[in-house]
Amino acid sequence: MNLTINARDAMPNGGRLEIETQNILFDEEYVKLHPEVEPGSYVMLAVTDFGEGMGKDVLEHLFDPFFTTKDKGKGTGLGLATAHGIIKQHSGQVFVYSELGKGTTFKIYFPACEKSVVVPEKKKDIVLSHGEETILVVDDEQSIRKLIVDTLKPLGYKCIEASCGTDAIKLAKNTPKDIHLLLTDVIMPGMNGKELSRVIKANHPAIKIMFISGYTENAIASHTILDAGVNYLPKPLTPTLLVEKIRQVLNRNHRKT
Ligand SMILES: Nc1ncnc2c1ncn2[C@@H]1O[C@H](COP(=O)(O)OP(=O)(O)OP(=O)(O)O)[C@@H](O)[C@H]1O
Ligand SMILES: [Mg+2]
Repeated sequence: MNLTINARDAMPNGGRLEIETQNILFDEEYVKLHPEVEPGSYVMLAVTDFGEGMGKDVLEHLFDPFFTTKDKGKGTGLGLATAHGIIKQHSGQVFVYSELGKGTTFKIYFPACEKSVVVPEKKKDIVLSHGEETILVVDDEQSIRKLIVDTLKPLGYKCIEASCGTDAIKLAKNTPKDIHLLLTDVIMPGMNGKELSRVIKANHPAIKIMFISGYTENAIASHTILDAGVNYLPKPLTPTLLVEKIRQVLNRNHRKT
């Protein structure tokens, strides 16, 4: 881009800009004449303008940072220094051919990639399993409840939401339907998820329980908040993982939770 901008600036009254690409092999013979070049296959990118061209005084400093012949405010003199940096970082070479009044050609050579680029196959659309169970969702963070409900409702699940243990217990009592799953945060203000699960379980013996937490499984187990082996879903939640785990737990033998 900077090369083409420079070309435009070199032709204030308009003119012709050429951009070329070409595969090139630098063999041993060529490398003898240009010892700075490693032999091998290269891809050339050339930018040519037929503008004002450059004299020796300019060519000598062309890639120096802050070297500019443009008016104050017009050029920073960093364009070619940046381009040079990028080319070198890609093990490339740059050559300049220019004559005053005749125009300029910048030729850049990048080492060619011998292997073809493997384009990863487009991921198949993920199909989330549907369900019609009722799920009691308890988390003090509204955004998490929203994520869960927004994921589950369209799949057919019925969700009851509560922001704390006390509310969850009340809602569970007042729900005439079966509640199939308690999906609860572990650490919440007031009652924690484990305490809540005990109370709910006492009133709904068949309910399955799954905990969600931002803490790692190990941290939670070592704080003895949760027993090892409980159903546990780590945050951050993703819809795919959420649905997958929920289905696993709901499909399990009824006697287990
Ligand atoms: N195609 C060209 N024709 C004539 N002179 C050029 C050409 N490309 C670069 N130059 C000269 O090289 C100088 C440095 O170019 P460079 O792109 O580094 O900075 P700039 O264009 O002056 O400012 P910037 O790119 O930071 O806006 C320019 O000021 C100009 O004198
Ligand atoms: Mg420039």
